[in-house]
Amino acid sequence: MNPRPSIAFAKFAAPQTAANRKGTVFVLSADDGGLSDAARAYDPGKTLERAFPVAEFTGKFAGVVEILAPEGASLDRLVAIGAGKAAGLDEYAWLKLGGTIAASLRKATDVAVVLDLVGASINGKDAANLAAGILLRSYSFDKYKTSKDKDDAKADPKKPAKITIHTTDPAGAKKAFADAEAVIDGVLLARDLVNEPANILGPVEFAARAKELETLGVKVEILAEKEMKKLGMGSLLGVAQGSPRGARMAVMQWNGGKPKDSPIAFIGKGVTFDTGGNSMKPASGMEDMKGDMGGAAAVTGLMHALAARKAKANVVGIIGLVENAVDGHAQRPGDIVTSMSGQTIEVLNTDAEGRLVLADALWYCNDRFQPKFMVNLATLTGAIMVALGLHYAGLFSNNDELAERLAAAGQATQERLWRMPLGAEYDKLIDSKNADMKNIGGRYGGAIIAAQFLQRFVKDTPWAHLDIAGTAMGSPSNEINQSWGSGFGVRLLDRLVRDHYES
Ligand code: BES
Ligand code: ZN
Ligand code: ZN
Repeated sequence: MNPRPSIAFAKFAAPQTAANRKGTVFVLSADDGGLSDAARAYDPGKTLERAFPVAEFTGKFAGVVEILAPEGASLDRLVAIGAGKAAGLDEYAWLKLGGTIAASLRKATDVAVVLDLVGASINGKDAANLAAGILLRSYSFDKYKTSKDKDDAKADPKKPAKITIHTTDPAGAKKAFADAEAVIDGVLLARDLVNEPANILGPVEFAARAKELETLGVKVEILAEKEMKKLGMGSLLGVAQGSPRGARMAVMQWNGGKPKDSPIAFIGKGVTFDTGGNSMKPASGMEDMKGDMGGAAAVTGLMHALAARKAKANVVGIIGLVENAVDGHAQRPGDIVTSMSGQTIEVLNTDAEGRLVLADALWYCNDRFQPKFMVNLATLTGAIMVALGLHYAGLFSNNDELAERLAAAGQATQERLWRMPLGAEYDKLIDSKNADMKNIGGRYGGAIIAAQFLQRFVKDTPWAHLDIAGTAMGSPSNEINQSWGSGFGVRLLDRLVRDHYES
């Protein structure tokens, strides 16, 4: 990993202190503002502003211009970041500005950010979001990269940057950042889990990672094959039976709400590797199926976030963990399994395995916890990528209020959702001649058919299914994420909980 920067907050420096500052300083400039007085204190010779025109820097949002060793100051580097229209920067804009700063850090270790803008007042929350954006953008998954030449100074690993954010309300910023950092840590945990290769992270190892949330006060139970068999989870276990790596279900509970309040529930698909089974996938691109546990990673990251920020809500997180591999014991096309619900399933394609895992996880969750609602996340279908590309996740729901709240949280966090239809015509497509249902439908509407399948396991409980196949991994990198595993879903669902379900 790139070393994580450390973040501190402070009041604006006095002009004399600013003039003697060393290291790298970032300042903001709005598109019609130029530099504020607090920023100018670092540039007594006005060298930076003189460079604006030739660098074509207008203060446009996320524009960058920098000068080295400015005249009359002891700084190494002074960088201006464009803030665009200073008034009305929202949460995501502050995250992106933080990301832009992180992208310009290079090897700086001693860093100050002067959070001041002509024409806008910047509060503690804004400062916290900027800091959060720095952390999100700074993440990279490089733990398996060894330095080529340990004696080569250029190959020196980066040292962590120490970043002090100067603002009008450092105490407020610090408080807001503690809350934001809990969520960021949840996102980074989800990214780590998605990026980790499947030889290192199988069902057993993933369950152990979930168990670690106990240190934050989350209650975590791990069900192994024997218990799942006893519960009748034939659908989930059928997927796991071709792998020597076992199956697990992690049941996480965060009880931060009123004791009598029924919980809300999040359920994740955790296929630690998806070969397709006997209906095997082609070789090209199969390596991406190490990320077929992006749903489970998001649920685990979310539980981390909620516990770390002590959310006032009762929340259940359940993840079904299996490897979809092929050995002589693997299930075959045509096999019929009995799910925990009692419904039988004809497995016509062993690569449509995520729905088989979720069928038992959803039923178990509903049966045991009678939650207010269930939201499941899954890298479920290639078809959702055909439909929506890589920028929106598919949203399917039997409940308009839940769907609207999710979509709104998606807009606020820019983890965007697009609602897709459900309906009896689609449901009919999975009726089977030989069992209660089959696990694939026809040629068209694959993402909807998968959702219809899941709906058969939720009864009337308000439920939403998020198909995150296009967004959990391999989506285009952006201002706040450069990693293959994006951690999609953690910020989204934290926002949902925050906005509607905390007492
Ligand atoms: N894990 C895949 C879906 C997937 C594909 C996720 C690409 C991320 C990227 C899922 O288990 C699967 O294989 N689905 C099949 C279903 C089909 C057999 C009905 C698919 O989408 O092709
Ligand atoms: Zn599959
Ligand atoms: Zn899969």
